[in-house]
Amino acid sequence: MSISKAVKSNVTSKYSVEKRLQIERLVGATQIVAPSAGSDVIEGLTQTPKSLPPCYFYDDRGSNLFEQICDLPEYYLTRTETTILQQFASEIAKITGPCELVELGSGSSSKTRILLNAYQQLGYPLHYLPIDVCAGILESSAKQLLGDYPLLQIDPLAGTYELALAQLLPTQLPSRLICFIGSTLGNLTLDECDVFFSQIINALQIGEYLLLGIDLRKPKEILEPAYNDSQGITAAFNLNMLEHLNHRFEGNFNTTDFEHWAFYNESEHQIEMHLRSLRSQIVELRALNLKVNFARGETIITEISRKFDLNTIKHQLTARGLLPLNLWTDPNQWFGLLLCQLQG
Ligand code: TRP
Repeated sequence: MSISKAVKSNVTSKYSVEKRLQIERLVGATQIVAPSAGSDVIEGLTQTPKSLPPCYFYDDRGSNLFEQICDLPEYYLTRTETTILQQFASEIAKITGPCELVELGSGSSSKTRILLNAYQQLGYPLHYLPIDVCAGILESSAKQLLGDYPLLQIDPLAGTYELALAQLLPTQLPSRLICFIGSTLGNLTLDECDVFFSQIINALQIGEYLLLGIDLRKPKEILEPAYNDSQGITAAFNLNMLEHLNHRFEGNFNTTDFEHWAFYNESEHQIEMHLRSLRSQIVELRALNLKVNFARGETIITEISRKFDLNTIKHQLTARGLLPLNLWTDPNQWFGLLLCQLQG
């Protein structure tokens, strides 16, 4: 056997994708069913107005539909953020130096590849901790990454951000960068945002970094089609939450009795996404021992997507000790990428 063959087979057997991939599962919203699982659903469906936690979007089908949303012509967010990343990833890597990449809501990790490439090009070690509530997409994307980046060290975590952030061990690299891109920050209410920033601060050492992707304010005519696409993928994504609940909690939601409804609330600067009941009906979730009455036209709010003003968010971050070092944006100023550093 030639040396190169021997080395190669040794590398593949010692570091086979299966061996290199171990997903840690945390007790969280869509993971291991703990006795308390579903209390968030009961809480949301028994209050007025009704609501459901967005983490229930992301079962395997939901994660898949979300990937399709990212490619829609109307959904400018992913495309714009990708372009900014392609342009500035190496600048980001040069500022942070070698660091561990932690990503919250990693999904397919396709945008993170741009960052991994930048760190790789600078000869930095690649340590990646993708975190997602959907174990299925975490596993498939981690396998692909391991195939594509032979030197990648990956530690996927399936669970909620809160649990995952609380359980991070100190990094072995000189620094850590937590990536929260895709404007997921906009899916948190202001109060949730505040709690989230505290969790981030606890997960970082002084001098470490947070990379935030945020969708900026723009006319309604551009915003609304992004959440009401002509192919109906966003509607399918929204309605899939009911199928997921049926599956998880022995429910009998009939998706043809509900419709997708999304609009831009201009005074709150946020997209609001609802499921509207098309008739008066009672829905049962047997595993939760719950019966829910819906009036005709009544809605469940499933998501908000806040649109940011740059000065306000910069001010909020600075006030929390997360100093914005750099802002990158696109020529239209539709989307912003902010690199922040935790101050002492
Ligand atoms: N953070 C993205 C956004 O606010 C993702 C998202 C959440 C989303 N829910 C959605 C995208 C519903 C489309 C439809 O846009």
